[in-house]
Amino acid sequence: MTQPPWARRRDSLVGSEIDASISLLQRRPRDTVRFSIGSPSAESIPTEIMRDLANKVIQTNGPELFDYAATEGSPELRAALLEFLSGTEERTTDDRLLITSGGMQGLDLAGKLFVDPGDVVVVEAPTYTNGTATMLSYGAHIVEAPVDGDGLVVDRLPDLARQAGRPPKAIYVIPSFQNPAGTTLSLARRKRLLELAHRWNCVIIDDDPYGWLRFGGSHVPSMRALSGGDPLVVSVRTFSKILAPGLRLGWVDADPRTIRAMIAAKQAMDTCTNLPAQRIAAEFVSGGFLGAHLRRLRVEYRARKLAMQSALSEHLAGVADWTDPDGGFFLWLTLPGVDTSELAEAALAEGVAFIPGRAFSLSGAFRNALRLCFAGTDPQRTALGVRRLTRAVRLVREHARGAS
Ligand SMILES: Cc1ncc(COP(=O)(O)O)c(C=O)c1O
Repeated sequence: MTQPPWARRRDSLVGSEIDASISLLQRRPRDTVRFSIGSPSAESIPTEIMRDLANKVIQTNGPELFDYAATEGSPELRAALLEFLSGTEERTTDDRLLITSGGMQGLDLAGKLFVDPGDVVVVEAPTYTNGTATMLSYGAHIVEAPVDGDGLVVDRLPDLARQAGRPPKAIYVIPSFQNPAGTTLSLARRKRLLELAHRWNCVIIDDDPYGWLRFGGSHVPSMRALSGGDPLVVSVRTFSKILAPGLRLGWVDADPRTIRAMIAAKQAMDTCTNLPAQRIAAEFVSGGFLGAHLRRLRVEYRARKLAMQSALSEHLAGVADWTDPDGGFFLWLTLPGVDTSELAEAALAEGVAFIPGRAFSLSGAFRNALRLCFAGTDPQRTALGVRRLTRAVRLVREHARGAS
């Protein structure tokens, strides 16, 4: 059969096992407890408020609501966000702000602007491989750096750069409650990362969707706050985890020159971000709902994390180890001797879904680990999911023993 005339980059478009799990589960008829995708829970979407705000937006606007919007974002959402940010450590200015179609578009624009084919891009291992996939789509040479209890092991970067034969052009880091490991980059490492970026003149892609969802431990300044507008820091943010992922809304805070170049790139990409979604989010933020919502989420997610840990302690103590994050959405489980890709299939058959560890690095490492999202399920359903997971673990271990 005739092959279409693919561009060379086609082979670098590796997709996302994480995203693919959404359609996989949609096709499944039976009840499945979803620890897989990093979505806020149905109960933590403020549906009533959103419905009222959506009605208000539709009723008080004419056809202009369905017109093209300014590429940099609707004036209403920009103003509301700037006002909200002014009360946080991430206060910023109009010329540093771009509204994007979710955090993923912020990552894509950063890759487009800073990564040429063959450029070294450092990513964490494990990491949110959608970010890695974005960098790969621009031809990045990916170098994986280890993560420990204090986040990315920044002191390993000079060695890795030496091995790669050139310094990185970009460092992709998830500083707070990392996806999937749940770790937070320590203050000392944040500072060292900034020093290295300056030594190498490379950008830090500061992907921080979970930073406002701290429910324990002590505050660490965000890379944006710490760097005070450093032109080498590109801060990618999203409404997906703090409001609703289906809105597909995020923002980038970066040097005005970067923002201008991103606007030009976005004009060749999707022209503007969905206007009705922006207007609803603007009402949510300017109406003062976001602060209260964040406070509620922190309380709820802490309870959900504890519920998951307690179910794990009841059923899998001595079999698995898990992390204890101070915020965010995820626990990272290690199951020595268990292939978690095999386990994922057995678990699906039992009615529980998670993302196996190999999905979080390009090299397919972490085969004995897996990611559980605790944010999306209430304590009762979490307990059910953990019981199902435990049955799957038992089956896979029996199978492995039988085979040896
Ligand atoms: C670390 C990280 N970055 C970016 C994103 C993508 O955000 P969005 O859904 O807004 O595109 C996610 C979503 O899971 C994430 O965990």
